[in-house]
Amino acid sequence: MSAPFRVAIIGAGPSGFYAAAQLLAVDDPVFAVDLFDRLPTPYGLVRAGVAPDHPKIKSVTRAYDKTASHERFRFFGHVELGTDITRQELLERYHAVIYAIGTATDRRLGIPGEDLQGSHAATEFVAWYNGHPDHSGLEIDLQARQAVVIGAGNVAIDVARMLALGPEELAVTDTADHAIEVLNASGIEEITILARRGPLQAAFTNPELLEMGELTRADLEVVNGDLDELSQAALCDADKTRTRNVEISQDYAGRDRSHPPRPITVRFHYLASPVELLADERGHVRAVKIERNEIVERDGRLAAPGTSELSEIPAQLVFRSIGYTGLPVAGIPFDEARGLIRNQGGRVLDDSGERCVGEYVTGWIKRGPSGVIGTNKKDSHDTVAKLLEDAAAGRLNAPAGGDMEGLLRDRAEHLVEWDGWQAIDAAETAAGRASDPDRPRVKLADWEQLRQASRGIAGPAGRT
Ligand SMILES: Cc1cc2nc3c(=O)[nH]c(=O)nc-3n(C[C@H](O)[C@H](O)[C@H](O)COP(=O)(O)OP(=O)(O)OC[C@H]3O[C@@H](n4cnc5c(N)ncnc54)[C@H](O)[C@@H]3O)c2cc1C
Ligand SMILES: NC(=O)c1ccc[n+]([C@@H]2O[C@H](COP(=O)([O-])OP(=O)(O)OC[C@H]3O[C@@H](n4cnc5c(N)ncnc54)[C@H](OP(=O)(O)O)[C@@H]3O)[C@@H](O)[C@H]2O)c1
Repeated sequence: MSAPFRVAIIGAGPSGFYAAAQLLAVDDPVFAVDLFDRLPTPYGLVRAGVAPDHPKIKSVTRAYDKTASHERFRFFGHVELGTDITRQELLERYHAVIYAIGTATDRRLGIPGEDLQGSHAATEFVAWYNGHPDHSGLEIDLQARQAVVIGAGNVAIDVARMLALGPEELAVTDTADHAIEVLNASGIEEITILARRGPLQAAFTNPELLEMGELTRADLEVVNGDLDELSQAALCDADKTRTRNVEISQDYAGRDRSHPPRPITVRFHYLASPVELLADERGHVRAVKIERNEIVERDGRLAAPGTSELSEIPAQLVFRSIGYTGLPVAGIPFDEARGLIRNQGGRVLDDSGERCVGEYVTGWIKRGPSGVIGTNKKDSHDTVAKLLEDAAAGRLNAPAGGDMEGLLRDRAEHLVEWDGWQAIDAAETAAGRASDPDRPRVKLADWEQLRQASRGIAGPAGRT
């Protein structure tokens, strides 16, 4: 058998793991995979994005662990492309490189007051409560009465739900300890989810929207939830998810509120765009100025332009949850307008549209920040198919350099391999059990703690 083709995959999130599994399953030709991540921990947004009260979803990592046990697989954690290693160094050592680095930052609203104190990107808040070591120091003051979450997607739902969970609900999750402490002391009584279009156009999925109706500490309200005539007419052609979203929204609007009021009200406010965040005398957000929108038909599609009708929603906290976007990495062709690595069907293209031999892309940084975990399986399959096609045609990269491991041992001072991650995992899960028999783990949320745990030194103290 000839020597395997060596492939570097950058990013150990779902798309990186699916690409690895698919390559390792090929018998002829044979591939060896090195999976890199800038974090000492694998799994991407499954660890740092998926809500802590959704442990079942996180069990997808068992499939990734199986991939990691393959004899031709190596994990190089705590190694950042663009900082610890360069694109050129990868191309000198691998027949192919697949970028699977996700889309790490937030899209901007572009309205005045966006960066006032008390206004946070959902990307950061999510990373904070999930113990991402870059964001564990984020200062979030939940001593506010009213919060507005801007955006009508599943991340907005996650943010609103996390704000509404009670101490006993959080105690059995892997929410980072620093976040549990702050969330438990929260003074929030009203959470408004602000959607610029109507219930038919919201990007929620049904289970996530339904879960809001099961919150034990929150009553639900709906503003502007009645369907306009155009949306009503469009309902018969709408897909099942959207139709069901409308039904759920109508159910929420018509709910009996005769029971004693719950401590929190979650309000779905449709058909309104934020136009400005207003400050108090300390420069802290005090309200969101909104413009009422209306559904109109434009070029054969439904649009939601503003009506010039303005009003204010008092809010001392704002979470901007209007989607993620990618960040460029030195030397790798980047499509600024779309926030993606420039590519055609997963093959990386340079700025003049020519193919970059041996370079591929998958996941959110290939197609944009949408889709659930499983969507990335198909996406990686498509990219790997292109790579296999190029391998068969003799069009992969021809590396002249040696093995990456030597360079990493010299260069990446804190390299964490799979056994290092397993040591972190063992420390976290032991601390979880010590904190509460039902708690899956206590996350290490600090870079130095993670490094130490990867070497088997100490573990988190665990909450008592
Ligand atoms: C808040 C949130 C909650 C979600 N909840 C769910 C859910 O409940 N169910 C569901 O099915 N889907 C959910 N999703 C969607 C799902 O997480 C994504 O579809 C999926 O994670 C995208 O996979 P990816 O591999 O492309 O990117 P990511 O998961 O973002 O992985 C990218 C990886 O690349 C690494 N990386 C980045 N830059 C570099 C670099 N320069 N060098 C080395 N490594 C690098 C990152 O550290 C990261 O580990 C959620 C998404 C978000 C944002
Ligand atoms: N439990 C789960 O399965 C789960 C949990 C979290 C995330 N995810 C997935 O992860 C992906 C990303 O989720 P996401 O919520 O970040 O993104 P998303 O689904 O794309 O939703 C973004 C929302 O922001 C709105 N928006 C965009 N620009 C805006 C602006 N300028 N002003 C006001 N609103 C604006 C969008 O409205 P328009 O539609 O009008 O553009 C949309 O409602 C999705 O595929 C999601 O399903 C899944």
